[in-house]
Amino acid sequence: MNNQTVIVTGAASGIGLACTKLLLERGAQVTAFDIQEDKMRSSLPKNNANLMQVSGDVSDADVCQNVVIKTIKKFNKLDALIHWGAAHSSACWDELDADECNNIMKVNVTGTFLIAQAAAKPMVERGKGAIVLCTSTSVLHGVTGGEGQGGPAYVASKGAVIALTRSLARALGPKGVRVNAVSPGITETAMIKDYSERQRNAMKQRFPLGRFAEPNEIAEAGLFLISEKASFMTGETMHVNGGSNFG
Ligand SMILES: NC(=O)c1ccc[n+]([C@@H]2O[C@H](COP(=O)([O-])OP(=O)(O)OC[C@H]3O[C@@H](n4cnc5c(N)ncnc54)[C@H](O)[C@@H]3O)[C@@H](O)[C@H]2O)c1
Repeated sequence: MNNQTVIVTGAASGIGLACTKLLLERGAQVTAFDIQEDKMRSSLPKNNANLMQVSGDVSDADVCQNVVIKTIKKFNKLDALIHWGAAHSSACWDELDADECNNIMKVNVTGTFLIAQAAAKPMVERGKGAIVLCTSTSVLHGVTGGEGQGGPAYVASKGAVIALTRSLARALGPKGVRVNAVSPGITETAMIKDYSERQRNAMKQRFPLGRFAEPNEIAEAGLFLISEKASFMTGETMHVNGGSNFG
């Protein structure tokens, strides 16, 4: 990752935090972006010249543009975006209301589009770049919510990310920018903190590997997709789910 400049969203917690640390360890310059300013400051390494922290809401277009402008001002270029940041909703079909549904769509769909759009602009100018978005294995299962798992708003928003990945990949591929998605299975982060014990045990039985993912195991897929090793991949969804997708 030497000398790559990368914007990582969701950097205060879970997969985004793991991804930021891995990138720094491997010599990248990173703009860490998250809505949780204090958590980001307390979780990330201090006094690292290769790290800049920017806080804000990814569903705000001005904020997204500002993150990109600040990154280029500090590091002179933008090679990649890895967008992990997302909001979660466990409301079941008969509990979900329009406000909650709209908020999840705003952050997870509109926000994903806005940060990808902002990052793509300087990449298109340079004629190269890589964007990684984040969907979820819950799309394949059609999970229903309750007991901490994603409900219809969350699952629908993550389904939209797959479509967005393909649309952006087709639009940006001819301009030298690759766009892919990572689809994590259940991962030990704050996002699953409300899972009931019964739910955790039931879900683990679905995994041939018998456990949930650690954040680093998902972050590595993002690092691979922005690397030259993935130079012929675009519009793809990379599943990293311990085999929970079959059977
Ligand atoms: N943990 C899992 O089991 C799991 C499974 C499948 C997919 N995912 C996906 O992986 C990605 C990372 O999630 P995680 O598990 O690390 O969860 P997490 O809750 O630990 O991290 C999510 C981060 O996104 C940030 N965020 C939320 N809303 C934001 C906004 N409006 N603007 C900017 N930042 C915002 C949060 O502050 C948080 O730091 C998400 O896209 C999630 O949907 C997670």
